[in-house]
Amino acid sequence: MNAPLKRPKLALAPASPQFINCHQASAQGPAPDVAHELAEGLNAVAASVAPKYFYDALGSQLFETITQLDEYYPTRTEAGIFDTAYRSIAETVAGAGIKQPCLIDLGAGNCAKAAKLIPYLKPKQYVPVDISADFLRDAAEQVQTTFPALDIVGIGMDFSAELALPPQVQRRDRVFFYPGSSLGNFSPDQALTFLQQMVDPAQGAARGLLLGIDLVKDKTTLEAAYDDALGVTAAFNKNLLRHVNTLLGSDFDVRQWRHLALFNETESRIEMYLQAQRNLMVHWPGGERAFRGGERIHTENSCKYTVASMTALLRRAGFTQISYWTDPKDWFAVFWASV
Ligand code: AVJ
Repeated sequence: MNAPLKRPKLALAPASPQFINCHQASAQGPAPDVAHELAEGLNAVAASVAPKYFYDALGSQLFETITQLDEYYPTRTEAGIFDTAYRSIAETVAGAGIKQPCLIDLGAGNCAKAAKLIPYLKPKQYVPVDISADFLRDAAEQVQTTFPALDIVGIGMDFSAELALPPQVQRRDRVFFYPGSSLGNFSPDQALTFLQQMVDPAQGAARGLLLGIDLVKDKTTLEAAYDDALGVTAAFNKNLLRHVNTLLGSDFDVRQWRHLALFNETESRIEMYLQAQRNLMVHWPGGERAFRGGERIHTENSCKYTVASMTALLRRAGFTQISYWTDPKDWFAVFWASV
């Protein structure tokens, strides 16, 4: 009989997530399309900067802080819905015949919401996607330590223009996870186009979508959520100007701008602006813009839906089976929609 082999103990290297960065920034500065998009928005008569430019590393941190504020009810309300519905959600997904889900987490941020969902949904692959690539890379590594055996493919990507997923993403059983009411950043028409891309077999090839969306409610509650007492949302909004300065090489003086958040009842959306406190000039390589005192830069729309208006939108996009869960006050809704 052979003596048992004495193997040295090997420290098992934990699996590490794959990471794919789809941004085309170069050493010479931002991708030309980023500079072009920013300059075009700033030069428009009604100036605007897209809300995706909130999310540099500091902006992502400020947003996380917003989610802890008393006034910002969406994150905790949504979390409350999930806490009571995880089992029901998992049953509903399985009931749609989805056996080995590929969980695609759009705007994953710190991946905290997915980390709570994973034990119930038991995905075969987890695909966090976020425009803030460095922030996401750290978060994906954290998730990997919690779920060492899970296949994780992190993607640094701006999916707002086109939902083009790289070939590393599993084709079968794709379940999109779009929580936090981020769909509200699109206008209803843009949201429809985006959801159609998600359903399209040649693009997102979704079998299902788990969506969190903020619901219409009184103006006072809504405006307080976007203009908090501590001024964190104001800092989040103004930080966009710092981010634009680094991307475009512009010379915005953040101190000269004021945060505004207004609920537009006709359009059913919160509108955020930065308002010039006095006449200002802003310069950047190849351009400049004069702002009169009181003039605004539009930075965000956050559209609010009703259960009926979201159900109709999902049906128009091509989803057929629709279920939803809400909180006791009907402030927020989580939808499951399958194709
Ligand atoms: C991340 C788009 C869902 O609209 O409530 C929070 C962003 N802006 N406070 C939202 C945001 C100001 C947020 N979303």
